[in-house]
Amino acid sequence: MDLFNVYQRWGIEPVRGLGTTLWDAEGNQYTDLYGGHAVISVGHCHPRYVAALKAQASKLGFYSNAVKNSLQETLARKLGEVSGYPDYSLFLCNSGAEANENALKLASFASGRSKLLAFGKAFHGRTSGALEVTDNPKIRSPFNEGDKVTFVPLNDVEQAAKALESGEYAAVIIEGIQGVAGIFEPGAAFMKELRRLCDATDTFLIADEIQSGYGRSGLFFAHQHSGIRADIITTAKGMANGFPIGGVLISPKIEASYGMLGTTFGGNHLACAAAIAVLEIIEDERLIENAANIGAYFKEVLKGDKALKEYRGRGLMIGLEIKDEYLGLRDRLLFEKHFFTGASGKNVIRLLPALSIEKQTAETFVSAWKELTA
Ligand SMILES: Cc1ncc(COP(=O)(O)O)c(C=O)c1O
Repeated sequence: MDLFNVYQRWGIEPVRGLGTTLWDAEGNQYTDLYGGHAVISVGHCHPRYVAALKAQASKLGFYSNAVKNSLQETLARKLGEVSGYPDYSLFLCNSGAEANENALKLASFASGRSKLLAFGKAFHGRTSGALEVTDNPKIRSPFNEGDKVTFVPLNDVEQAAKALESGEYAAVIIEGIQGVAGIFEPGAAFMKELRRLCDATDTFLIADEIQSGYGRSGLFFAHQHSGIRADIITTAKGMANGFPIGGVLISPKIEASYGMLGTTFGGNHLACAAAIAVLEIIEDERLIENAANIGAYFKEVLKGDKALKEYRGRGLMIGLEIKDEYLGLRDRLLFEKHFFTGASGKNVIRLLPALSIEKQTAETFVSAWKELTA
């Protein structure tokens, strides 16, 4: 059987990793500033993370949600403390799209409404509801088309207000920082106004922190830079350093009832052990502070670079929009200098490295960049 061919792949196959370093089977070494799409948070094969997974795998790998699972309770307590949302409750699932799917469903259950407000260029995942609030008709099939969702441009207060003031919306869903679009931030004043509009119209504010969360922006969640709180927060990617998991943080305004949400694999023992280890490592190694510091370094040395049209982002969620004469730079960084980076379209290079990246690694990347663009 062949693979269903939906991915454009590099020919390189990493078979081993440590921190921000990857090796292929021939022993060629690469530096990973992409983290498999913002997933690697504490570095590849962090010894404490590996030990936690091994220990849990040899005790109990899985049981369903039909039984008590104190690992889930530990994870919820710890995530509440570290994220600044100790009064919220946690629903565990398996991926980012699934987290958004459940968040949208919760907002609709709790409000009794079905309309949703989303933003231009938003990406929220590829399952049915998540895709409806994703502003990319190219990846929607006819089955995914509906009329429940209104899209307005990011940071357009007037259009957002016009929609929300109808009082017909269950929720607004917004990325902490837009990732797939090429790293675009909602402004603090815009976020504050959205919060006010949601409060005034009993609309739920959902922050999709699947890519921007878990410390990547220099705070635990990117929306916290605006000084607001969301009603529902979705998280996934960095949460378990590559072990599939997703989470929905839910305001005490929303009451749970049996059967309202559910999943077979969500919150399983291995996923929880991995996620607990990640939070402990983030705290003990002060990785959020490191993300802010290394992010500040990248900004200082790359902002205004002659190859760039614009430097965007915060912390270690970075979008480098390159000038047309430097198209092809990402391939050169990979094939000539052995750096993995992400992309958005042809002209945005995305840096999404592990939060544990060392200053020296960042400096090596900057030297390679300067050499290739000299
Ligand atoms: C902001 C955002 N939301 C949701 C998703 C979907 O997550 P997953 O691929 O785990 O379903 C992504 C994935 O890139 C994302 O960046």
